Amino acid sequence: MEKKLQGQIAIITGASSGIGAGVSKILALAGATVIINHPVDATKPAAEAVLTDIKNAGGNGITYQCDVSKEDEVIKMFADVIAQFGTVDILINNAGLQRDSSFAEMTLAQWNTVIGVNLTGQFLCAREAVKEFLRRGVVPERSKAAGKIICMSSVHEVIPWGGHANYAASKGGIMLMMKSIAQEYAGKKIRINSICPGAIQTPINKAAWETPEALQSLLTLVPYGRIGQPDDIGNAAVWLASDDSDYVTGISLFVDGGMTLYPGFSTNG
Ligand code: BGC
Repeated sequence: MEKKLQGQIAIITGASSGIGAGVSKILALAGATVIINHPVDATKPAAEAVLTDIKNAGGNGITYQCDVSKEDEVIKMFADVIAQFGTVDILINNAGLQRDSSFAEMTLAQWNTVIGVNLTGQFLCAREAVKEFLRRGVVPERSKAAGKIICMSSVHEVIPWGGHANYAASKGGIMLMMKSIAQEYAGKKIRINSICPGAIQTPINKAAWETPEALQSLLTLVPYGRIGQPDDIGNAAVWLASDDSDYVTGISLFVDGGMTLYPGFSTNG
């Protein structure tokens, strides 16, 4: 793979599994040094396994434990990474989870956990990244931009999702946070965009693909006729993080096999 991110430092939150792990591997292949963030002691072995794969493929990185919903931990993560590597060029604001429930039964804990990680976590990490990008400014040998933030949103920033009001609210929130800060900092050469994955085959949605029946039912929602893979998102992330997308800021890039094309209307309304 062409080393479009050579010499750049990328923090990927929630990188011990799923989309975050896949994105870390592809960014490393593109030449970035990756900070594989994971939340708790229990996720460390999985993060280490991602790092081992990356090193075996000739890439570079470290693992870093930090709960992105905790302000003091996020501030320390950025300070430690900047102390060790000099700066941060790319933030993949990826950490996210689901706590599904019918709305009437949803507990405040389920609501707060999802908003805390998916939305507040993205706010805290983006804020620290923006501070560093403003401090460093553009260094032409690194990139045309002072820094790049990619927020992992979802098709559910636009598709309402019964039984998942907390999750859909977090993703709708990400959309306007992303666009607002993209607008605020474009003049400082900071590019901020979202990727909106559809159904990607990862642990978060195992129930939707683990049996042939479940997969068949899922595919009625995907015009392109297959479930997505973490590499589909990783390739989009490399593009958004590289100078190839230098004129792109404030967009929601849907990588969803057409899930947002209202497939139910493909014959007649
Ligand atoms: C969710 C998955 C779901 C997909 C498509 C994602 O944001 O995390 O569970 O399969 O959207 O509905």
